[in-house]
Amino acid sequence: MTKSTQDNKPIMVGDRTIPPPDARFITISIMGQPYEVPETLTILKAMEYAGYQFKRGCGCRGGICGACGTFYRIEGDHTLRTGLACQTVVEPGMILAQVPFFPSNRAPDLDLDTKTPADEQIATLYPEIFRCVGCGTCTRTCPMDIDVMGYIAYFKRGDIKGGAEKSFDCIMCGLCASRCPANISQFNVAMTARRITGARLTPRSEVTAARAEQVRSGRYEPMLAELCEMSAEDLKTLYVEREREPDLAKPGEWMPKDQTKL
Ligand code: SF4
Ligand code: SF4
Ligand code: FES
Repeated sequence: MTKSTQDNKPIMVGDRTIPPPDARFITISIMGQPYEVPETLTILKAMEYAGYQFKRGCGCRGGICGACGTFYRIEGDHTLRTGLACQTVVEPGMILAQVPFFPSNRAPDLDLDTKTPADEQIATLYPEIFRCVGCGTCTRTCPMDIDVMGYIAYFKRGDIKGGAEKSFDCIMCGLCASRCPANISQFNVAMTARRITGARLTPRSEVTAARAEQVRSGRYEPMLAELCEMSAEDLKTLYVEREREPDLAKPGEWMPKDQTKL
């Protein structure tokens, strides 16, 4: 049974779901139930328009957090498609289900101080990567257009840093893992590789280490205490009137006149 447009109320607060007055209504199926929704909405907003309230499966609403992975088919088309509910606009005949969480294999107790070479560490933690059959389903599934099969291939041949860089845009939606015939949780392998790369394969930044030492020394505690004592109005003035880096300043060349708080 199709729910009538009168049954559906524009119910949103905050990120408001207000369709344009002349929006055309289309029928989509959400979790097996048909609804009529304005054609201009994203899946996320269409679901809210239909009365769903998100407690899981929604976070940033901006394509960054990976919480809103969605599977769908278009009626009459055999292709199973994927997308982020906050980024994908509804289509007539869309039959969809959200996958806010997908069970995945995540290696526990990552030892970042080990002397084991990084490639061996990944191979030991995730031996299933060698079962990859090169089908490319993960790459076709990824809503971020990441070459998932490609980064798994990097890990298989021991290039942990290369795979970490190739997977950098991953938002951990889990859609790739949900379709892998080799049961690989690609995004967790990649996250582990990025952690290993950051901790073991990247030169230490002396500037960052020096700054961290300054923070640990308590140098900024009195300044923070002073800020905490200020009124909201004074804080606002301080923020607005702060000395700012010019837009076209070359990196590393500009310094504020008052350097007492650096
Ligand atoms: S879906 Fe799995 S088996 Fe297929 S290419 Fe991706 S990682 Fe390999
Ligand atoms: S690599 Fe996998 S988990 Fe990461 S964004 Fe792509 S589909 Fe999502
Ligand atoms: S809600 Fe964060 S990616 Fe969609």
